[in-house]
Amino acid sequence: MAVSSFWLLAIFSLFFGHGVLHVDASHHVYRNLQTVSSASSYQPYRTAYHFQPPQNWINDPNGPMYYKGVYHLFYQYNPKGAIWGNIVWAHSISKDLVNWTPLDHAIQPSQRSDFYGCWSGSATMLPGGRPVILYTGIIDAKNSQVQNLVMPKNLSDPYLREWVKAPKNPLMAPNSANKINATSFRDPTTAWLGKDGWWRVLVGSKRDSRGMAILFKSKDFVNWVQAKHPLHSAKGTGMWECPDFFPVLSESPSGLDTSVNGPDVRHVLKVSLDDKKHDYYLIGTYNAAKDNFIPDSGFESYVLRYDYGKYYASKTFFDEGKNRRILLGWMNESSSEADDIKKGWAGIHAIPRAIWLHKSGKQLVQWPVEEIEKLRTKPVNWPTKVLKGGELLQVTGVTAAQVDVEISFEVNELRRAETLDKWVDPQDLCSRKGAAAKGGMGPFGLLIFASKGLQEYTAVFFRIFRLQSKHLVLLCSDQSRSSLKKDNDLTSYGAFVDVDPLNEKLSLRTLIDHSVVESFGGEGKAVITSRVYPTLAINDKAQLYAFNNGTADVKITRLSAWSMKKAQIN
Ligand SMILES: *[C@@H]1O[C@H](CO)[C@@H](O)[C@H](O)[C@H]1NC(C)=O
Ligand SMILES: *[C@@H]1O[C@H](CO)[C@@H](O)[C@H](O)[C@H]1NC(C)=O
Ligand SMILES: *[C@@H]1O[C@H](CO)[C@@H](O)[C@H](O)[C@H]1NC(C)=O
Ligand SMILES: *[C@@H]1O[C@H](CO)[C@@H](O)[C@H](O)[C@H]1NC(C)=O
Repeated sequence: MAVSSFWLLAIFSLFFGHGVLHVDASHHVYRNLQTVSSASSYQPYRTAYHFQPPQNWINDPNGPMYYKGVYHLFYQYNPKGAIWGNIVWAHSISKDLVNWTPLDHAIQPSQRSDFYGCWSGSATMLPGGRPVILYTGIIDAKNSQVQNLVMPKNLSDPYLREWVKAPKNPLMAPNSANKINATSFRDPTTAWLGKDGWWRVLVGSKRDSRGMAILFKSKDFVNWVQAKHPLHSAKGTGMWECPDFFPVLSESPSGLDTSVNGPDVRHVLKVSLDDKKHDYYLIGTYNAAKDNFIPDSGFESYVLRYDYGKYYASKTFFDEGKNRRILLGWMNESSSEADDIKKGWAGIHAIPRAIWLHKSGKQLVQWPVEEIEKLRTKPVNWPTKVLKGGELLQVTGVTAAQVDVEISFEVNELRRAETLDKWVDPQDLCSRKGAAAKGGMGPFGLLIFASKGLQEYTAVFFRIFRLQSKHLVLLCSDQSRSSLKKDNDLTSYGAFVDVDPLNEKLSLRTLIDHSVVESFGGEGKAVITSRVYPTLAINDKAQLYAFNNGTADVKITRLSAWSMKKAQIN
């Protein structure tokens, strides 16, 4: 197919911002390590159904989209080694979000506007179903940033193998007039189209320590003007990486195209806070006339996260095929850089999650895409049973290092709940009160990657507290005993789950995959992912248990576990 007339709208002159860029490098670059590859043959931590390439470093998911029946995933990739560097857009495709086939790299450094790296960005569907991608180009050794556009060479190719860079790149650049900090200007979102015919896109940035989502507008997707105000900003939050801005329905789990707005629509702004290395989101109202976003409550109050463990640089897209919004995210390693180089790879992606607004309107809910259930085999189901205080029951009949498990608990009374005098940070609470700290109501949950003599295990569990007249349900992922190798990051993670422990079941689903423990509490109200590297509890030596280390008995109303087949992952 000929190059679309789309480009004829563009001005074919090489534009470059006039501003002189005085900036500091924001990444340490270890040139000697960036090309090291000495992969060991000992590989007990590679995943069977979580996305990862055969080797090397990966980070952010980029430009996810659904095009002509095919899911596209691009991702930040170092083709030369297991640590960050030499970043290109690698590309894989899938029919089901579970099995993935690699294609050639889609975007690589080749022009002045991206010669030092092709960093994160997003895809947008133009009218008529033509995808385009905006991404951040790095233009010098100081990591100065601009935004570039690419479009597919051949729209008849459902695999979108080849991408053509816009001659006018870069389309957005720091200059002396806009005073944008050139090393803090990256990760364009999916654009949305207003009723006024203008496209809008956000780029993550900061001014001093005020994090912000800078808004740009365009009629033709090529000529972009900066809006007077950012869509939103918040002091003290530092650099906003990978912003994501999307509509959700207030009364339905169905997804919406990113441009939809209306009376039943609420908006979500997610940012990856560089200072904290976590993905936070706000729910609020988007005023299209004023082009601002008013959150129901801001970062200063209670903060909501997609995942209270390891999860960063996530991005959603609207899956037109199944009318849902899907969330993709990156999980980094908890091992040392030396170990990553030894094993020859670093970084995986989470199982794609459907994401929607909870009917309370107060938080989002996430659930692994239904397609992952195709990998389930050899179901194990327990009848309802009481799990006594201090009891440990092994879940047999599953491949415990590669399993999907759902467990639900019921409690009858809360008299033995431990008392809190004041609200406490849930992660701190989990660090202080791990699985080995006996309680009243809990800890009860799962022991994962447990070795035969319990020298190693990762514990994911509930614990119920009383705070004044209310009860708080805590979900913890306790990594403190996950590995005998103590130089891994063994931090514990925690979140409160907004469930009523007397009237609702306490449910937990955990996707276990060799070095991944991805847990969904309260039917997706609280998600915690951890990365662990057992030395004894590997492959068929790993065991799975239900445990209760509280004094009160609890009832297991459901336990279903499935050994998971291996997915085709690149
Ligand atoms: C475009 O893609 C289609 C479908 O894959 C293919 O048949 C056709 O040959 C391609 N055209 C060009 C010019 O590569
Ligand atoms: C610009 O960003 C860099 C990198 O984070 C930072 O060191 C510098 O202080 C920033 N400058 C301003 C004016 O915010
Ligand atoms: C990755 O993991 C390390 C250690 O577990 C952590 O300190 C770091 O901030 C993580 N996140 C990112 C986004 O790099
Ligand atoms: C349960 O608590 C006891 C006493 O604190 C502790 O020794 C034991 O290791 C705990 N069990 C688990 C599975 O952590």
